Amino acid sequence: MNEQIAKIEEAIRAFKIGSSEDAEQFRLSFLSRKGQIPTLFEQFKQLPGEEKRLYGKTINALKQQAEDLYKEGLQSVQQKQQQSVDYTRSVKDLPFGNRHPLSVIRDEIIDIFARIGFDVSYGPEIEDDWHNFSALNFPEEHPARDMQDTFFVEKNPDFALRTHTSSVQVRVMENEKPPIRTISPGRVYRNEAISARSHCFFHQIEGLYIDKGVSFADLKQTILYFAEQFFGKSKIRMRPSYFPFTEPSAEVDVYWGLNNEVDYRLTKGTGWLEIMGCGMVDPAVLQASNIDPEVYSGFAFGMGVERIALNRYQIPDIRMLSENDMRFLKQF
Ligand code: PHE
Repeated sequence: MNEQIAKIEEAIRAFKIGSSEDAEQFRLSFLSRKGQIPTLFEQFKQLPGEEKRLYGKTINALKQQAEDLYKEGLQSVQQKQQQSVDYTRSVKDLPFGNRHPLSVIRDEIIDIFARIGFDVSYGPEIEDDWHNFSALNFPEEHPARDMQDTFFVEKNPDFALRTHTSSVQVRVMENEKPPIRTISPGRVYRNEAISARSHCFFHQIEGLYIDKGVSFADLKQTILYFAEQFFGKSKIRMRPSYFPFTEPSAEVDVYWGLNNEVDYRLTKGTGWLEIMGCGMVDPAVLQASNIDPEVYSGFAFGMGVERIALNRYQIPDIRMLSENDMRFLKQF
C-alpha cells in the first residue's frame, strides 16, 4: 500500500496542468469515481482495523493534495484564457467617422489645382501687420483696411488674426523665386456680426501664380478650368472690382443656370453665382516681396470655402459648419 501511495503522489506532482484539457485529464485519472484515489479508498476499506488507522491519514492527505493541485491548475488556466485577447472576435457597431464637409471641399479644390501644377502652402493664423496688410498694398490708415474688420492682439496691435490667406502668399513670395504656383487654404478671422450667412471666422483658399509673361488671359483660363472641374459649369464672367493687392481686379461669377427652384433661390433669379475674387498681382505687391515687376507678372484669386459648402449642400445656416453637431456632420 505504501508503495502504491508513493507512486500516485509522484504522478500527481509530475502532472503539469497547462490547459483545460490537461485539467480534465488530471481529474479523470486521479479524482473521478474510477480514478486512482477513489480506487485507493476502495482498497483501504478492505484493510483490517489497525492498518486502517495507519493509512487513513496519509490517503486523506493525498486526496487533499490532489484536489488542491486540480483547483490551482484550473484557475491558472482560466486566468490565462481571460488575459489572451481573441483577435478573431467580430467588431460590432464601431462608428466610422467621416470627413467634415469643409475638408471635403478643400481637398477637392487642392486636388484640382494640383493637376495644373499648384502646390499647397500654409502660414500662421496670428499674423503681423506687414504680411496681412502692408506688403499687400494696404497703406497705413487707409480706409481699404476697413474692408476687412480685424481682430487685433490687444497687447500688441502690430499682430492680428489674419483676415485672409493672402498673408501666406506674401510669405511664399518672400521665400521662393518665381515661377511660383501655390494655393493657400486656411482659417481666417473677421470682426463681423455672426448671422446665418456670415461668421467671425471662416476658411479661404487663395491661389497665386507668378512667372514671366503671365497675363489676364491665363487668369481667366485657369478660373474657367476650375469652374468646369469643380462646379461642372463651363461659362464664367468677370465683373470689375477692387482689391488693394490686385490691378485690375474682378469678381467671378459662374453661370449656374435656372433649371429649378433651388437655382432661382441660389442665384437670386439671375442664373449667375459669385464664386471668388481675383486679379493681376499689383506691381507694388511684387516689389514689396523683392520680385521685379519689370520681369515678372502674376495673378491671384481667393474664395470662401463656407460659401461654397452652403451652396453645394444647401445648408441654411453657416453656423452649422462649426457647431460640431454629429447629427448634422454625419450626413456628409
Ligand atoms: N484676399 C481677398 C479677400 O480676402 C480675396 C482675393 C484674393 C481677391 C486674391 C483677389 C485676389 O477678400
